Amino acid sequence: SHFRFGKRMKVVVSRNLGPDVMPLLQERKELELVVWPEDRPCERKWLLENIPGAIGVVVMLSEKMDQEAYDTAGPSLRVISTMSVGYEHIDLQLAAQRNIKIGYTPDVLTDAVADISVMLALMAGRNVRETTELVGRGDWPKTAWAPFGFCGPQLSANWIHNTRTAGFIGFGRISQATLTRLIPFGFTNCVYMSNPSSKPNPEADAETARRYNLRSVRRVGLDELAAESDVVFVLAPGGASTYHIVNEDFLRKMKETAVLVNTARGTLVDSDALAKALREKWIWGAGIDVVEGEPSVGLDHPLVKEPRCVVLPHIGSATIETRLGMATTAAKNLLGALFDEPMPAELKR
Ligand code: DGY
Repeated sequence: SHFRFGKRMKVVVSRNLGPDVMPLLQERKELELVVWPEDRPCERKWLLENIPGAIGVVVMLSEKMDQEAYDTAGPSLRVISTMSVGYEHIDLQLAAQRNIKIGYTPDVLTDAVADISVMLALMAGRNVRETTELVGRGDWPKTAWAPFGFCGPQLSANWIHNTRTAGFIGFGRISQATLTRLIPFGFTNCVYMSNPSSKPNPEADAETARRYNLRSVRRVGLDELAAESDVVFVLAPGGASTYHIVNEDFLRKMKETAVLVNTARGTLVDSDALAKALREKWIWGAGIDVVEGEPSVGLDHPLVKEPRCVVLPHIGSATIETRLGMATTAAKNLLGALFDEPMPAELKR
């Protein structure tokens, strides 16, 4: 344990974790908790003022843990616990060099994000943005039911298209949970792209195909993925290696009736290229929960202007149950690292 008799260990918490989870930290009398008091992201200035001498920090996606933050904290820093599964805001190399443990929150959010991924695929195909806006403006009375009014491509297998292919950029836990949900929709095929440094595993793919009764599960390159998918799910980590992986070239290769769903990170998709693809109808629609440069996404943003683009303000994991799970995991990761208890989810590199 890092506890030294008589001296409390400073822990900086960048956001109040709520009445169910804060007590987990407050009941540890060995800790001196410094908590950002407001209901908005903590200011960088506040973080840097409070972090010197801290042994641990609990952060959100909004807090960049870069060299400046590490240096300002000083050699006392032993653990960074982020309330997120993503960790591109944390310099992992520096953490390794300085022997700082990293906690994150995988697994607890997998189902919530898979749910919203399917929701966005449905919303993007079925013109939900245009139609709910129409009703919201009071215009329903002006548009009677019409034989082909507001039609969009069907997500589930149907009498015209008896095969359906799901494409995944990234094929981790959330992609696989999303695939599971698509099986009752009659999906027949799956193509995916993985981190180039991981080894292809055709046996595992055949096993996945058998498990879900799919005709095929194949690891492919980007071109094939774009061309074959009825829905493309972007579900890979952010960061430099996936930056703008969905660009003009990719979007031009997609089917005209396909939809793109991004529930990962905004940086994977070139927003201008996607706006152009929607405007010029290279693809049918898009459903995105994340946008590069968020939260600065106002009415003048090219994707907000596209009627075929459903835009959500990063709420993929926002279920009551999941956020409680994430906050609890974040608190327990911190405590685990400080008190030599098991960390529920330590990020190992
Ligand atoms: C994460 O955890 O990384 C998500 O983006 C927020 O739930």
